[in-house]
Amino acid sequence: MSRRILIAGNWKMNKTSAEGAELVNGIRSALTDCCADKLPEVLVCPPFLDIATAVCAAKGSAVEVGAQNVHWASSGAYTGECSTAMLLDAGCTHVIVGHSERRQYFGETDATVNKRAKAAVDAGLVAVVCVGETLEERESGATTKVVGRQVREAFSGFSANDMSKVVVAYEPVWAIGTGKVATDEQAQEVHAFIRKTLGEMFGSECGDSVRILYGGSMKPGNAAGLLKQKDIDGGLIGGASLKADDFVAIIKAAMA
Ligand code: 13P
Repeated sequence: MSRRILIAGNWKMNKTSAEGAELVNGIRSALTDCCADKLPEVLVCPPFLDIATAVCAAKGSAVEVGAQNVHWASSGAYTGECSTAMLLDAGCTHVIVGHSERRQYFGETDATVNKRAKAAVDAGLVAVVCVGETLEERESGATTKVVGRQVREAFSGFSANDMSKVVVAYEPVWAIGTGKVATDEQAQEVHAFIRKTLGEMFGSECGDSVRILYGGSMKPGNAAGLLKQKDIDGGLIGGASLKADDFVAIIKAAMA
C-alpha cells in the first residue's frame, strides 16, 4: 500500500494576510527546482482571514491550502465559526480538526471532533484529525488508552469510504511547541497502534491506506528520522512551518 507523504504546516494564530502570502511565495519558489513527481503533498493551514490570500499566492503551484477548524452546521447562529461551504468557497482542500490546543483551550471534545470531521468529509474536504496524549497521560502509561479512545470516537459512524478523506495526525501534547520531540521509536509505536485501531474499525485495507502524520517539534534536523518510520506518512508542523526555509527543508527531507 503506498501512502503519499503529506507535509502540512499549521500556522496557528500567526501571520497577517500579507505575511502569509509572502510565506507561500517563499515556499513555492523554493520548490520550483524540485522534480514534481518526487514532491510530497504540501499543505499550509493559515488562520481563516489569511486563507484567501494564501490560496491566491499558491495558485498554479503544488501548495494546497487548508483551514484550522470548521463547524458541522451548514449555517446559523454560531458566532466565530466557519462552515464547510465557506472553506470550499475560499479554496480550501483540507481542514484540521481536533487540534490539542482546541481541545485544551476551547472546549473541543471527542464528540465535537467527530461532528466536525464528519461534516468535513461529507462536504469533500480532507479532515486532518489530531489525537495525542498529555505528558501526565504518557507518564501514567495511559497513551494507548487515550489515543485509542480519541481515534474510536473521532471516527465513530464513519464508513471505510469516509476514511479515504481522512488523515490522522498524532501529536503528543508534550511535544507541541516544547522543542521536546518524540523519539523515532516512540512516534512509530503510537502510529502503528493507531493503524491497528483503524484496521480493527474499518478493516486492514483501510487501516493500511490512511495516512498518519506526526506533529510536535518536527524540525529540519529531526524530520528525516521520523519520516523514515514505517507508519509515519508525513508531518503536521507548527513553529517550523512559519519560515519558508525550515518548511522547505522538511519537504526536502521527505524527498530524500
Ligand atoms: P510545533 O511544531 O510548533 O511543536 O507544533 C506542532 C503542532 O501543534 C502542529 O499542529
